[in-house]
Amino acid sequence: TEPVKIAVLGCGTVGTQVIRLLLDQSQDLAARIGAPVELAGVYVRDTSTPRDAVVPASALTSDAEALVDAADVVVELMGGQEPAKSLILRALARGAAVVTANKALLATHGAELYEAADAAGADLYYEAAVAGAIPLVRPVRESLAGDRVTRILGIVNGTTNYVLDEMTSKGLDYDAVVAEAQRLGYAEADPTADVGGHDAAAKAAILASLAFHQRVALDDVYCEGIEAITQDDIQAARETDRVIKLLAVAEQVEDGVSVRVHPTLVPVEHPLANVRGAFNAVFVEAEAAGELMFYGQGAGGAPTASAVLGDVVSVARHKVGGGKGPLESNYALHEVLPMDAA
Ligand code: NDP
Ligand code: HSE
Repeated sequence: TEPVKIAVLGCGTVGTQVIRLLLDQSQDLAARIGAPVELAGVYVRDTSTPRDAVVPASALTSDAEALVDAADVVVELMGGQEPAKSLILRALARGAAVVTANKALLATHGAELYEAADAAGADLYYEAAVAGAIPLVRPVRESLAGDRVTRILGIVNGTTNYVLDEMTSKGLDYDAVVAEAQRLGYAEADPTADVGGHDAAAKAAILASLAFHQRVALDDVYCEGIEAITQDDIQAARETDRVIKLLAVAEQVEDGVSVRVHPTLVPVEHPLANVRGAFNAVFVEAEAAGELMFYGQGAGGAPTASAVLGDVVSVARHKVGGGKGPLESNYALHEVLPMDAA
């Protein structure tokens, strides 16, 4: 059987762990996919920069376009807008499947990428873009597609939860904890995306688009971060048996959809108050399903790599056995016909 050729773009916190799992578990992955998997190459800015020992030096390349053109599956783990967007569009245009963890890109240029995927009949998967290891995109996009989601509420940024938790439980200083979140690989390359609430807002936009079947972009999300939270605020919350959490809320309201991210006072007995460290927790409410809760590690190399590899297996299975994931374009644009008019 022909191998499925996998290109990895970016070799940082997440990319390194994806490469490790891909190589360590290649036999198991081949059995699950029905064909061997081959690491076609790893795109980096500078091939001479020392890398983790799990990354084969021979796989490194600075020629992204040649690598994309040689792959069946392109895994984008660079982050940022460009060259990520152009390389994803290039991959999709040739029918390659794309897996990405890039919520910032999806929340700003998602519509263009989804349309390109649909036009090419190619898969575009992004489980790792929301809430790290937690399976959340697939349940909202697929498992709940027959239900009516009414509200999504929770903690979707690991860095800010870690910072608030360390400030609350250990009384630590804000700047020192943010620096530690960067060292642990939780924070974005520019951590202002985390502490400013923009990373959570991007994730909320992605979830709201999937849940409410209409395009919600980053600009549509009200966003307030945690930069202004002080030990005094944390202490005042404690005195009234509450903790401060950065929450994302997306809900169906009378005249549309409301999506927002802001610090919130959560009563200590609420499950969200007890989400520690870089963990995330998200409640999804749907008309028929009722309330669902998703919980797990929301950031970090290995947890995020788990979600990426799950997507790689899904899209590689389609390459080998046929089939494709759900259409990506705005479902709301499709006319809804009465049942008896079919
Ligand atoms: P890092 O900053 O650790 O790694 C990014 C990698 O991409 C680096 O290897 C970097 O190169 C490379 N890169 C960046 N820009 C370019 C470019 N223009 N050309 C070539 N290579 C480039 O990021 P993470 O691994 O933390 O994150 C990757 C993606 O995953 C981002 O979209 C992030 O939002 C997302 N994500 C991250 C999570 C986490 O916990 N860290 C969790 C969920 C999603 P170089 O090595 O030369 O610097
Ligand atoms: N910086 C992000 C966070 C990574 O802290 O949640 C996971 O998306």
